[in-house]
Amino acid sequence: MAQNPPRHGGNLHQAARRLDCRPQQLLDFSASLVPFGPPARLRGVLRRALSGGPAAALVAYPDRSYGELREAIALHHGIDASAVLPGNGAAELFTWAARDAAVLGVNTVLAPGFADYQRALACWHGHWRSQVLQLPHREAGPQAVGEALAGPLLPLPGPLWITNPHNPTGQLWSRESLLQLLEQVPLLVVDEAFLPLLPHGEQQSLLPLAAQHPRLVVIRSLTKLCAIAGVRLGYAVATPQRLHQWAQWRDPWPVNGLAAAAGIALISDQPWQRRVHRWLGQEGPWLQQALGRRPGLQVGPSAANYLLISSEQSLQPLRLELEQRHRILVRDCRSFEGLNECWLRLAVLDRGRNQRLLRALDQVLALDRA
Ligand SMILES: Cc1ncc(COP(=O)(O)O)c(C=O)c1O
Repeated sequence: MAQNPPRHGGNLHQAARRLDCRPQQLLDFSASLVPFGPPARLRGVLRRALSGGPAAALVAYPDRSYGELREAIALHHGIDASAVLPGNGAAELFTWAARDAAVLGVNTVLAPGFADYQRALACWHGHWRSQVLQLPHREAGPQAVGEALAGPLLPLPGPLWITNPHNPTGQLWSRESLLQLLEQVPLLVVDEAFLPLLPHGEQQSLLPLAAQHPRLVVIRSLTKLCAIAGVRLGYAVATPQRLHQWAQWRDPWPVNGLAAAAGIALISDQPWQRRVHRWLGQEGPWLQQALGRRPGLQVGPSAANYLLISSEQSLQPLRLELEQRHRILVRDCRSFEGLNECWLRLAVLDRGRNQRLLRALDQVLALDRA
C-alpha cells in the first residue's frame, strides 16, 4: 500500500522497522534537536525521581497548579507566573490556542509551514487559509513577514499563526513586523519553539509582551533546545485569564511529574543556552556553505538549526539512498504544502555528524553522475 509522506521528522522507530535495523543505528537529520543533549542536569533530576521516596516525581501526583515550574519559567523570562501555562509539549498548547482561534474567523497559516496548527484547528472545526511564501527564499532575516510572501497579506480574515523562526525555511521574522500584524488580527499565535536556539533570537521574541496583550499567545518548547522530545514539555505565555480558561478545559496533570521536574532544572541552565548559541553560530553557516558547494543543490539561507535544500530534479532518490545505504534520515518535504519531491530539510548537527552526512551525500551524488 502506498504510504503518505510523513508529516513530521524523527520517526526513528518506524524507519528502523523499515530498514530492518535498530533505531540507535540511524543518524537522524530529519528532526532538528540540539545534537549534544540532553543537558547533564537531567541526570540529577532522574536520580532524584527514582530515589526520592513518596514525594518523588515518579511516585507522587504532580502539583496540579505546576506552581514551582511556572515560577521557574516566569523567573527565567522576567514575567509573572500567572501568565505561564506548561503543556505536554508545544503540540498540546496549539490545541488550546486553536480552540480560541477557531471561533474568531478564518485562520491564516503560512505555506509551506508546520502542519500541526491545522491539526489543532481541525479539532475544533476551525477554518484556515494558506498564505504562500516566496520560494526559494533569499534571506535568513530578521526580516518583515510581508516581504517574504508571494502576495499581499492584509487584510486578514481572522487569527494568524506564525512560526518564528519559520519551519521549514529557517527564516527569522522581525519583531517589528510581528507587532504591526498584531494590530490587525483578533488573535496572533506565535510558535517560538526554535527561537531560544538562535544566538540573537530573543531580540525578535514577542514573549515579553504576551503576559499583558489580550490578543497574543506565545508558545515555547524545551524539545529542541534540550533534546528532550521524549519528555514532552512546552509552555504558553498569554494573559492569565486566557490560560486559566485553558487549564479548566484540559485533562488533569497533562504534564507528568518527570517533565515538570526536568523543566524546573533546565529552564534556567544559562551555560547550556550559551553552548547552544555557540554551536549554532558556528555550525549553521558551516553546513550551509558546505552543502552549497555540492553540485545541483540549492541551499536556502537559514537562521535556524535546519536547512531547506532543493534541486531542479527530484531529491527522492537521494533521500532513499541516504536512508538505505547510509542509514541517514532526512526530512522528506512532500507533506509541506507547496513543496514537492525536489525539496528536503536537513538538521544542523555537530561537526562529526555533519561531515558524515556530507561524505554520504558525495558518494550518492558521485554515483548519480557515474
Ligand atoms: C515549529 C514547531 N513547533 C513546535 C513543534 C513541537 O514541539 P513539541 O515537541 O514541544 O510539541 C515542532 C516539532 O517539530 C515544530 O517543528
